[in-house]
Amino acid sequence: MAEACPTVNGVPVCVPLRPGATLLDLLREDLGLTGTKAGCLEGECGACAVWVDGRVVNACLVPAARVDGAEIATIEGLGRDGGLHLLQEAFIQAGAVQCGICIPGMIMSAAALLETESAPSRESIRDWLSGNLCRCTGYTKIFDAVLLAARWRRQGGVPPRVRGGVGASAARVDAEAKVRGVALYGDDHRPVGALHLRIVRSPHAHAEVLEVDPEPALAVPGVVGALTATDVPGQNAYGILVEDQPVFCDRVVRYVGDAVAAVVAETREAAEAGASAVRVRYRPLEPVLSTAMARADGAPRLHPTGNLLARPAVRKGDSTHGLAEAAVVVEGTWQTQWIEHAYIEPEAGVGETTRDGTTLLTVSTQTPYMDRDATAKVLGIAPGEVRVVQAVTGGGFGGKLDLSVQPYLGLAARKFGRPVRCAFSREESVLATVKRHPYRVRFRLGADLRGRFTLVETEVTGDTGAYASWGPTVITRALIHASGPYVVPHVLARGFLWYTNNPP
Ligand code: FES
Ligand code: FES
Repeated sequence: MAEACPTVNGVPVCVPLRPGATLLDLLREDLGLTGTKAGCLEGECGACAVWVDGRVVNACLVPAARVDGAEIATIEGLGRDGGLHLLQEAFIQAGAVQCGICIPGMIMSAAALLETESAPSRESIRDWLSGNLCRCTGYTKIFDAVLLAARWRRQGGVPPRVRGGVGASAARVDAEAKVRGVALYGDDHRPVGALHLRIVRSPHAHAEVLEVDPEPALAVPGVVGALTATDVPGQNAYGILVEDQPVFCDRVVRYVGDAVAAVVAETREAAEAGASAVRVRYRPLEPVLSTAMARADGAPRLHPTGNLLARPAVRKGDSTHGLAEAAVVVEGTWQTQWIEHAYIEPEAGVGETTRDGTTLLTVSTQTPYMDRDATAKVLGIAPGEVRVVQAVTGGGFGGKLDLSVQPYLGLAARKFGRPVRCAFSREESVLATVKRHPYRVRFRLGADLRGRFTLVETEVTGDTGAYASWGPTVITRALIHASGPYVVPHVLARGFLWYTNNPP
């Protein structure tokens, strides 16, 4: 097999060239340098920024074969003799590190700027870092950190870090690990001998599942096995509030991205090839693509309980009095859209079985205890037999409050007796995981001549998509928040949350 032989952080290395492998694969998979992060794999986010022969590149776009003979620098090699580069220290002291998944790429890009400009302006820093996305910080602290580092360099020294205390800002406890690139996120945990898992997802918004045949996948070199609904020993359903989402659909799929099977293989590439080979036969059904369609007479019934998932209300006073007392009435209707949480780190983790038989999941999540309980139900075991460890999590914003990789990793680790890794691609993350739901919100506000509200009346119609997830909680919160921070004597807020064949 052909090799690529670059020098990485001053160390000559040779790695076999796998078909389609990128510099990011070479660094993370072959050399275990997980400080370089995988965000989008499409050259858009900058999380994978490294230096090749002194120039900043996005490692996910560079074929591994192209770096043969090149000098590569990654975040792990930026500091000298175990110390921090002044940019790393500046990011800590400026408070520029939050979830941290963007930070190694951000620092590698900024370090290249400081190589060429000793006194960059805030504007030039902003322009230079325009290819590095941060979902957490709003960039202000990041630009502050680069300005600070440039000033320290001109002044010839780095002041000692303030350790916190009364009247002093404390450095974030995990900031140093994050700026060094040694904080371990979901896909940075890679036990020896780990398998790779890829989920097979529905291309239909609504369809009957006629057959799921994993046999063709088993013929793909490197594939170890497959999982379908028949491999779920416990409850083939999960959900935070309503357990309505199948782990693997075996009768009907309800959105583009619903899971029907998974393939486990020795390599990520083999798992992907195997997933493509699984044969699934569907009979497409009429999709319900809006709340109007969901509530129409004769609409397809998406769940046994019907299409109306929740109907919460908040009442205070009497809205007819509020209207009568109003000197001014304003009415309007607004429509919001789906919002993807867009954390830079897609869902990822590893599942394994410990010596005492515990199923150990180390995953990117916001809710480890809920993950544990839900996964235990799927596995048909007691919650105490599942342990969920939250990996350093590269952003969540509410989008990692629900299960993603957890039940699949648990099932695969137990079935195949080896550690199993799974990291969603950006496309899969956007396609298949939960979203902020779109709402149609009608308001009628009444106020007296002193400018005080007499009435807040609202009706919120929400599209929870195919499954409940956190939908009932969120729409109830919308109703509670409808009157804002004001004292309003008469409030009537009603919500209607509908199942559709849109993303959950
Ligand atoms: S630019 Fe490479 S992972 Fe986003
Ligand atoms: S700190 Fe930048 S994405 Fe979280």
